[in-house]
Amino acid sequence: MKNKFDTRLVHGDESASLPGKKGKGVSPAIELSTTFVRDDPRSTDEYIYSRTDNPNRQMLETRVCALENGAGAVAFATGSAASMALFQALPTNSHVIVTGDAYYGTVLQLNKLVTRMGHSVSAVDTTDLTHIEQAWQDNTALVWLETPSNPQMRISDIKAVATFAHERNAKLCCDNTLATSLWQQPLKLGADFSMHSSTKFLGGHSDVLGGIIIAHKKDEMFDRIREVQQIGGAVPSPFDCWLILRSITTLSVRVRRQTKNALVLAQHFDKHEGVKQVLYVGLENHPGYALNQTQMGQGGALLSLLIEGTAETAIAVAKNTRLIKQATSLGGVESLIEHRHSVEGATSASPPNLLRLSVGLEDPEDLIQDLEQALLMARK
Ligand SMILES: Cc1ncc(COP(=O)(O)O)c(C=O)c1O
Repeated sequence: MKNKFDTRLVHGDESASLPGKKGKGVSPAIELSTTFVRDDPRSTDEYIYSRTDNPNRQMLETRVCALENGAGAVAFATGSAASMALFQALPTNSHVIVTGDAYYGTVLQLNKLVTRMGHSVSAVDTTDLTHIEQAWQDNTALVWLETPSNPQMRISDIKAVATFAHERNAKLCCDNTLATSLWQQPLKLGADFSMHSSTKFLGGHSDVLGGIIIAHKKDEMFDRIREVQQIGGAVPSPFDCWLILRSITTLSVRVRRQTKNALVLAQHFDKHEGVKQVLYVGLENHPGYALNQTQMGQGGALLSLLIEGTAETAIAVAKNTRLIKQATSLGGVESLIEHRHSVEGATSASPPNLLRLSVGLEDPEDLIQDLEQALLMARK
């Protein structure tokens, strides 16, 4: 019988251990060697070279794959390398439809790099299927959904988009970074691929970069993604894999608590005089709430605040937090705040008064107090 989710976080393929006396470490060994001594140069079941395969990478891939009941997983050096690998695996002259307010780096990657490869891209509001239908072309090969989207927290219907794409022989990839495998299982909802920036909740401690793609099927597209990993070479180091694997064991406890904290904050600042609107999918007034209940069932640990005032007011709030650090990224144990419009630059889809808040493991009362005093300072 298959183990339950929390057990699959802690146990998996723990086969890597150092040779010598009998007995394996409870924590797996880190295989730093770039190359492996081989019995037979023709054999296919031996490690050859660490770019091609490595025990720590294999352990990470096996563990993450099991979390979302995939057929296979492919790990990369960053989340961006993972998304790039999927785009590189597309047939020539493909058209990609992407969530318009997805993580701005993904949209930038598509518009700047992927179009250079001869593909075309349409960035649309994927919360409404009719926009996908309108953008559809004969050569549309992939829909890239990000739900919830970062940082506007919009919700797209994974099941409906999967059905729509499959009826037209296209694939669906869902960026599952914000939801995490704990709350959302895109493959179960019909997606062909689920992607994570492991830099975020999987890594969880703001100390390691990584990315991973989990596939529903080991088909031709999966083989191509594996080729991009092995031949393209944007692989994670064995230590990075080890760190992410270690953090995965605590994903459930971390993300449950972070989500609980985020809800407390969202409820507190909803209808606060200094905050025009709280964008949090765990609030019943969020337009995607009902749909998200069928996908994540929870709001997750990320929220955005539309500050009452201008961009300058929002920047002043972020500047004046003491406990909550003004820094990019999300998903770590420490709360982070950021003015996304400034970071994303001229092409930013983020409203100028938006602050993104990644909620950590601190006591929520301290976080509320910190934001309260920052909101006050910003108005002085
Ligand atoms: C939703 C989402 N997807 C992908 C990425 C890219 O990941 P990485 O920074 O690991 O390349 C990010 C990074 O912020 C993200 O937030």
